[in-house]
Amino acid sequence: MTASPSPFDLSDTKAGVLPELRRLQAENGGRVPDEALPAIAEHFGLSAFEARALAIFAESFHPDGGRHMLGICRGRCCSARGGRELGDAIAERLGLAWWGETADGRLELEPAYCLGLCDNGPSARVDDELIARLDRIGVAALLAELGVTPP
Ligand code: FES
Repeated sequence: MTASPSPFDLSDTKAGVLPELRRLQAENGGRVPDEALPAIAEHFGLSAFEARALAIFAESFHPDGGRHMLGICRGRCCSARGGRELGDAIAERLGLAWWGETADGRLELEPAYCLGLCDNGPSARVDDELIARLDRIGVAALLAELGVTPP
């Protein structure tokens, strides 16, 4: 008797692209290797741009390998509540530019543009966890919790 394919096998549909990207991430320390993207694009019928955008999406919401993504909201409401200055202070304290990562690769700093917590800004996101009412004390505690030591 041969096994029939599962009706839930998504590997040959576009719905299978994120699980495949997650698998690649898990095997490569939290990153989707750039060299894997052409094959991903061809297999799932995506453009190179779509494959890269989905890889960035996967990495943003599901960092692996001890890496964390810290997104600081630079949207209008959070900026009005001091979020822009707070984000700049974090970047300066870590010695990073936006989209930069710490020397040990444990943290990447990214700008975010509205996280849906506008009434409770400044807002941030660590991996897939949202943080409201962030202030400098909260940032220090957050960095310590993540094991990130500013230079
Ligand atoms: S503008 Fe920051 S959460 Fe909306």
